[in-house]
Amino acid sequence: MGPQRTLGAGRTALLLAGLLLVALGHRSAASCPETDLENREEEAKIVLTGTVDEIINMDPVHNTYSCKVRVWRYLKGKSDVNREILLDGGNKLMIGGFGNPGICDNRVATGDTRIFFLNPALEAMGPEHKNELMLNSSLMRITLRNLEDVEHCVEGKRLAGNETGPTTGF
Ligand SMILES: *[C@@H]1O[C@H](CO)[C@@H](O)[C@H](O)[C@H]1NC(C)=O
Ligand SMILES: *[C@@H]1O[C@H](CO)[C@@H](O)[C@H](O)[C@H]1NC(C)=O
Repeated sequence: MGPQRTLGAGRTALLLAGLLLVALGHRSAASCPETDLENREEEAKIVLTGTVDEIINMDPVHNTYSCKVRVWRYLKGKSDVNREILLDGGNKLMIGGFGNPGICDNRVATGDTRIFFLNPALEAMGPEHKNELMLNSSLMRITLRNLEDVEHCVEGKRLAGNETGPTTGF
């Protein structure tokens, strides 16, 4: 009888732990929706790797900010980047939308290197975002695996469009 009861209690505890995990999972999914990489790549006109050079225009109320980013490589959409928005001889540009609560991983510090999923700022976003690219979905860490995954998504379309242009490095 004794061991039986212990077993029962153990099982109940396990069950409760499981329910708790499910509940937590739902909560984070609800507060932070993110589609899969293929979708994110499709939604972003421009995907690039870069390092945060400087943080500017910090909004103290909404906790949003823009960054000057040094670009290493365009994974997608280089031709969609208007030359007018390039800074410091063409290696840098301004990216806005950091701190956007609609994006899960939305924060950086100076010196961080990431993969950025971006779209040109819409005019409706106001003059402070003129000449900025806006963060469209979560920041991604630079790993070989992540770079390859993103490249595969981009290349899927590239082949369909008969375009070429493989690249190396970060
Ligand atoms: C990302 O871009 C798509 C258009 O491709 C747009 O519908 C969506 O609202 C954008 N997401 C964010 C968080 O700006
Ligand atoms: C891509 O190439 C195929 C065959 O080489 C051709 O039939 C197709 O029209 C091309 N597509 C585009 C978008 O150029």
